[in-house]
Amino acid sequence: MSNIESVLNETRVFEPSAEFVKQANVSGMAGYQALCKAAEQDYAGFWAKLARETLQWKKPFTKSLNESNAPFFKWFEDGELNVSYNCLDKHLAGQPEKTAIIFEADDGKVTKINYRDLHARACQFANGLKSRGIRKGDRVIIYMPMSIEAVVAMQACARIGAIHSVVFGGFSARSLHERITDAQACAVITADAQMRGGKVMPLKPAVDEALAMGGCEMVHSVIVYQRAKPDTVRPDTAWNAQHDIWWHDLVLGQSTACEPEWVGAEHPLFILYTSGSTGRPKGVQHSSGGYLLGAMLSMQWVFDYKAGDIFWCTADVGWVTGHTYVAYGPLAMGATQVVFEGIPTYPDAGRFWKMIQNHKVTTFYTAPTAIRSLIKLGGELPRQYDLSSLRLLGTVGEPINPEAWMWYYNTVGQARCPIVDTWWQTETGCHMIAPLPGAMPIKPGSCTLPLPGIIATIVNEAGDEVHDQHGGFLVIKRPFPSQIRTIWGDPERYKNGYFPEEMRGYYLAGDSAHRDEDGYFWIMGRIDDVLKVSGHRLGTMEIESALVANPLVAEAAVVGKPHDIKGEAIVAFVVLKGARPADPATSAQLAETLRTWVAKTIGPIAKPDEIRFGDNLPKTRSGKIMRRLLRAIANGEEISQDVSTLENPAILEQLKNPVR
Ligand code: WT7
Repeated sequence: MSNIESVLNETRVFEPSAEFVKQANVSGMAGYQALCKAAEQDYAGFWAKLARETLQWKKPFTKSLNESNAPFFKWFEDGELNVSYNCLDKHLAGQPEKTAIIFEADDGKVTKINYRDLHARACQFANGLKSRGIRKGDRVIIYMPMSIEAVVAMQACARIGAIHSVVFGGFSARSLHERITDAQACAVITADAQMRGGKVMPLKPAVDEALAMGGCEMVHSVIVYQRAKPDTVRPDTAWNAQHDIWWHDLVLGQSTACEPEWVGAEHPLFILYTSGSTGRPKGVQHSSGGYLLGAMLSMQWVFDYKAGDIFWCTADVGWVTGHTYVAYGPLAMGATQVVFEGIPTYPDAGRFWKMIQNHKVTTFYTAPTAIRSLIKLGGELPRQYDLSSLRLLGTVGEPINPEAWMWYYNTVGQARCPIVDTWWQTETGCHMIAPLPGAMPIKPGSCTLPLPGIIATIVNEAGDEVHDQHGGFLVIKRPFPSQIRTIWGDPERYKNGYFPEEMRGYYLAGDSAHRDEDGYFWIMGRIDDVLKVSGHRLGTMEIESALVANPLVAEAAVVGKPHDIKGEAIVAFVVLKGARPADPATSAQLAETLRTWVAKTIGPIAKPDEIRFGDNLPKTRSGKIMRRLLRAIANGEEISQDVSTLENPAILEQLKNPVR
């Protein structure tokens, strides 16, 4: 609630400078409104025109939007294209020498690759994939550190029409296994190790572990990029000659030309797993044509992309941000972008600012959680670097608190750069609500107004639009090209989860929001049991399942509580099978065991910050866990709610006073 209060009181407004407005791709509110009006007047025609102008088609489409099987929408369905062609080949004639990627390794070593060479490497690797029998429609898992190779792997899959599913390198073997089996992948692309913060962290062993968990018989190839020196990786790293092959051996002798596989606009480009409130992670399936259109338009509208920009999105390719604004959007625009292997705090908290200075970054896009941690570790550090190349800043992943926004604006952007606070989701594929920086004034903490053609609004439980300060559910009324097409293997979950009956066919985003008197959107948080920890989505259910899978645990309930840097911290209430620990030392030890267990089961990002043991959990007589009470306890709040429906009210006292 504290965040809702603080944003409600925010009244500062920042107009774009005349200079910025003059050079902007969409200039002034009139420019923005003209685009919105065009979309209003002929919705399908608006998108069709943009799709013709923006994408290169092998076979032009004749149909724009097909809603006949709602909510399974189709866009440009009879058109054919290839995403990798649109990201690489397209630039070969005009700018083959232009740097595509400036890669900075954890240790500071810089490698640059131009469009010609990136194209050659993607083709060569694509031929390598084909030599393993990988074909259009096959699923390929990518479990890699941030690297040029990760981008090459994604582009190569797109080139041959294989559907990639990138799994964040911080996820555990078990999470990896879940995704391999759900996607029924035939290949895994990985690395021997990843370098982060000066440490070598083995990666391939997690793949071996995942494959050993069973049900992965369809995996015939594990392609291993050699990142570490052979002697720095665990010497006992297993090598299974049946399916393991080094990346450098795979591409050896392969041609650097590879005719793209022309696919229908609706052909799935990728599946990306994300957390929901219940059940297993969902495989969000994206299209080729509509997705790439959204990526490119948002590069132009929101990032005001110009050919001379040096673009840097700090997200890992394991998240959707790293798909749209690292692997696809910038390349499709022909941009020069920075790709960074390491972490913002190594060797010190000046790393980002030093890289902006060295690479003359113009457009910088990062997460509020990173901003908050850098304020804490060195709020004055940006002033030691020359950040004059910057012209635009962006944030994504969670609401940014106005104080962090002001620091970002003044200390990093030197009160010169607009900030685009971009609201979107894994499911939307690209920005949905965000400023067009040369068009609209910005307000700290607000993601401002929907992109042209995005018909967003706020409704109550009945699906009626609301216009007051209290807000309601954020919905998008009309289908849009870049949206999720289905949940892989579970169309029912897609339909019920995002298009529940009472929402009248609107897309239900899962966030609450309100609008101010200027119509600006302010995101208030999730309406479901999804936590936002360091901007990453974690389902409470997933963490609870991981806890209950431990032989010591009988029951668990997980809630979030506000955290200065991470946004939300994870608090777990646990009932053990045996007796509750009697003394603080045993309690602390058990808590540590379980925290490590969760980190190992899901990944370090899911590790609970706090574990409290109880003889039971607060439940209604029908057996439902009352999470709002647990939330109040975790936050140290007085419980003012009615507890009369509680089966066991005494349990609240016990949970309030944990053994310490
Ligand atoms: C959820 C989606 C979109 C890429 C990264 C996260 C929250 C995202 C903002 C923002 C307030 C935001 C929402 C959304 N969120 N951006 N600018 N302001 N909240 O993708 O993991 O799919 O999470 O992130 O709650 O629903 P994701």
